[in-house]
Amino acid sequence: MRTRITELLDIEYPILAGGLMWLSDARYVAALARAGAMAFITPRSFDGPEAYRAALRDCSRMAGDRPFGVNITQSRRAAENAMVAAWIDMALEHGVRCFETVGPSPERLIAQIHAGGAKAIHKSAFVEHALKAEQAGADAVALVGAEAGGHPGTNKLPSFLCGALALQRLTVPMALGGGIGDGRQIAAALALGADAVVMGTRFLVSEEIWAHENYKRHLVEQPAEASTLAMRASGNPWRVLDNATVREIERLEQHGARHYAEFG
Ligand SMILES: Cc1cc2nc3c(=O)[nH]c(=O)nc-3n(C[C@H](O)[C@H](O)[C@H](O)COP(=O)(O)O)c2cc1C
Repeated sequence: MRTRITELLDIEYPILAGGLMWLSDARYVAALARAGAMAFITPRSFDGPEAYRAALRDCSRMAGDRPFGVNITQSRRAAENAMVAAWIDMALEHGVRCFETVGPSPERLIAQIHAGGAKAIHKSAFVEHALKAEQAGADAVALVGAEAGGHPGTNKLPSFLCGALALQRLTVPMALGGGIGDGRQIAAALALGADAVVMGTRFLVSEEIWAHENYKRHLVEQPAEASTLAMRASGNPWRVLDNATVREIERLEQHGARHYAEFG
């Protein structure tokens, strides 16, 4: 299977396994690399630079000659970004040649990534942001619609509508994500004109994810309607299972809570 993204990244299948905070460790990322997809280590998940460096080393060993990537999620809180440049450098030193960048203004990151001889795929929830990333030099963009797991952004448009609109305007290759969980949907995204898909939630229940078996079983048992968005008032909502904690968060939001510290 050949698309502009499989060619760009030298992978077998047009599947990007988007970074998963706390979960995208060396074992998971290397398993996807060996299976012919592209997956991304999440540096923020590690307890300091040495643990991150060890993950890069382990992933390199376990992935063999297959490429793997690193996710660089920039926070809106500047203090949280102090290590970003160092994370990129460490990844480049370990032979990483593909980065998934997320968050505002990727220009500087893209320049550093290109100077290191690697490719940058910028992921966003809005077509306008994807176009800006293209202008900033991204080698490809990933667009995730409202169905996406993690932080889906505040975009209300579903993935396939975002994708269709973006494809009218983009020149660089595009991966489409949000709610994609099986081969039919991958085929549909490629038929739409996407060069790959981005998937996250579907992989949460894979064997290589270190989360507890009971959590995975619980996820699989849930109906499709079981998730909701929490912390909408923060402007950076999370997709979570709808439960009593979510309702307590909503109650606190109604009383004015906006920042993490205010949720106790
Ligand atoms: C548990 C979880 C954690 C995530 N963590 C991150 C992250 O740290 N950085 C990031 O860019 N995306 C993160 N994402 C988003 C995924 O990379 C991907 O864009 C998204 O899951 C695609 O939508 P889908 O879940 O509907 O397949 C996360 C998603 C999930 C489900």
